[in-house]
Amino acid sequence: MTAADIYLDAAATTPPLPGVIEAIQRVQQTAWGNPSSLHHSGLLAAEALERSRLSIAQHLGATPTDLICTSGATESVHLALLGCLNKQPPGRLVISAVEHTAVTAAAGQLNALGWQVECWPVDHQGMVRLDQLERLLAPPTQMVSVIWGQSEVGAIQPVMAIGRACRDSGILFHTDATQLLPHGRISWNQLPIDLLSMSAHKLQGPRGIGLLLKKKHVEITPLQGGGGQEQGLRAGTEPVALMTGLAAALQTLPSFEPCSKSVPPGACPRIRGQRDRLLSQLLGLPGVDLCGPSADHRLPNHISLLLTGRQGQPLSGRQMVRELARRGVAVSSGSACSSGRRTDSPVLAAMDVAPDRRQSGLRLSLGGWIDDDQLAVVPQRFAEAMVAAETSV
Ligand SMILES: Cc1ncc(COP(=O)(O)O)c(C=O)c1O
Repeated sequence: MTAADIYLDAAATTPPLPGVIEAIQRVQQTAWGNPSSLHHSGLLAAEALERSRLSIAQHLGATPTDLICTSGATESVHLALLGCLNKQPPGRLVISAVEHTAVTAAAGQLNALGWQVECWPVDHQGMVRLDQLERLLAPPTQMVSVIWGQSEVGAIQPVMAIGRACRDSGILFHTDATQLLPHGRISWNQLPIDLLSMSAHKLQGPRGIGLLLKKKHVEITPLQGGGGQEQGLRAGTEPVALMTGLAAALQTLPSFEPCSKSVPPGACPRIRGQRDRLLSQLLGLPGVDLCGPSADHRLPNHISLLLTGRQGQPLSGRQMVRELARRGVAVSSGSACSSGRRTDSPVLAAMDVAPDRRQSGLRLSLGGWIDDDQLAVVPQRFAEAMVAAETSV
């Protein structure tokens, strides 16, 4: 990426805030000890760690013991699903058909242990079909995992309704909130959710740290042995400076009460407004179609598109990413983790997008670092990139 890049790939990762970098540097210099050590350096580190934990808990409406520090959402998801289920007699795990690969990989491991893994179908917009709820929550379902904000097509799933139904049926409910949390702080203690995974680098915090939030009644078995840190649930010396960085990032987020369907209209008004303007300009270009839900059910910073060339043939999303990069605009085709691979998008397949269009997806995701002047040049560069992508096929 050059300094001139217009960075529209927030769903992949986000630039750390200056306050985050400062906080990390300060702790690296002043509290670099091992928080388990009993001498002065250790006590300084333990104090910094607990201060950060308390601040994070306050910002998320949680109690400090609800937080398990991990290396990121991938690890959190594995700890949630495998830690809850891998020592239990196999039953049924339900996951949505549009999960991130972190969830499908963990579910695959459980499947190899004899668990039945059932996919919750979605509609053409990528929203889980609530008419399937009763069937999917019937025995032998023991756990449900549904992504809160879908990374590739931006769908905000009705996790509150699903969580309440799971609670009524005595079923554990996990949500991957990695893409939703950047838009506002939650009130963890009030949510009908047993386990929640997140990653700091999606909300302008540091890379390499995430959290699993766990309600007190949920029992998990650790996936690794060692020094017994994080209440014995995740061994390994705690990343004190990264925890401080995460606390600093969360401090800057607005708070909101997620309603049953979507992020409330008041959340992120500036980014939402920028996204809506850019989206309508892009949809005005020939061959550009919206993919995924309408604005009400979409992450406020998220645009996902399907692209068609002038002869009516699907354009390659990967080629568009390259052409836009040449023009100083950083975007992604599908989710960051799969955009390096030349495969059909399973998310678009689950939404029943025609097979020949599944490689024509493009994702633009905005963040607080973008100003209106930068965005103003994007539609023109987008149109040029489409012509170039078509001729280079
Ligand atoms: C929805 C979702 N879940 C999980 C992850 C994995 O996060 P990490 O790479 O920080 O472990 C990502 C990252 O792309 C994501 O978007």
